[in-house]
Amino acid sequence: MSGQMKNSPLAGWVKIVGLGPGREDLVTPEVRAAIDAATDIVGYIPYVARIAPRDGLTLHASDNRVEVDRAAHALEMAANGQRVVVVSSGDPGVFAMAAAVFEAMEDRPDWQALSVSVLPGITAMLAAAARAGAPLGHDFAAINLSDNLKPFELVEKRLRLAAQADFAMAFYNPRSKSRPHQFARVLDILRDECEPERLIIFARAVSTPEEEIRCVTLGEATPEMADMRTMVIVGNSATRRVGPHIYTPRRA
Ligand SMILES: C[S@@+](CC[C@H](N)C(=O)[O-])C[C@H]1O[C@@H](n2cnc3c(N)ncnc32)[C@H](O)[C@@H]1O
Repeated sequence: MSGQMKNSPLAGWVKIVGLGPGREDLVTPEVRAAIDAATDIVGYIPYVARIAPRDGLTLHASDNRVEVDRAAHALEMAANGQRVVVVSSGDPGVFAMAAAVFEAMEDRPDWQALSVSVLPGITAMLAAAARAGAPLGHDFAAINLSDNLKPFELVEKRLRLAAQADFAMAFYNPRSKSRPHQFARVLDILRDECEPERLIIFARAVSTPEEEIRCVTLGEATPEMADMRTMVIVGNSATRRVGPHIYTPRRA
């Protein structure tokens, strides 16, 4: 690329990437190449901290809950000719930055004309499922338990209906310090709808040195088993153990 093109607004792009669940070898080669080609990295502080500094690369780390401002900043820089990578953990399309970038573009035809692409990553749900075996081997529902962007009543409704439909379930953001009681409520709803023998996997910090994988029955599960670094996977009524593994049969 010529030096002239480098400074041209036409040379700018945004790539919204997923860094996977934690371990370096779970970052895809496509994402690695985008980071190597970037002039700017934008994202939440702990995710930007995963990017090695180098000459010619500016790191823009911001706090949680400012996703749309962060997205607008990325688009503004791309409009000025910069090559911007927006980082999320896991996959950028799963409860993460990709939707926030498109939200920021809604009323901006100038930004809609920019080169914007989404590069997938390994989402926490799939990394956690793989560590346990194949608990998501049949139909499943992924639910974000946070009430940051939706009322908790909606979380409760979706959870109850998914349990009644006998979906296996994967819960993101299960329990935070600011709303510890809500996960207790989630377990109560599951106890209303499912048998006490139902298998639940608590997969914490998957693929990092702090990884902890625990499988218990619904009868044994307690709210303290989850925190914000945990994926919770609830089996369907047929989910079972085979040796040290947990799997959900492919047939209903
Ligand atoms: C805001 S969501 C982001 C999800 C991310 N975009 C993805 O695809 O994995 C954050 C939640 O993902 C889950 N999570 C992310 N990384 C994880 C890991 N390494 N192990 C277990 N759960 C993880 C936790 O439930 C956490 O509260």
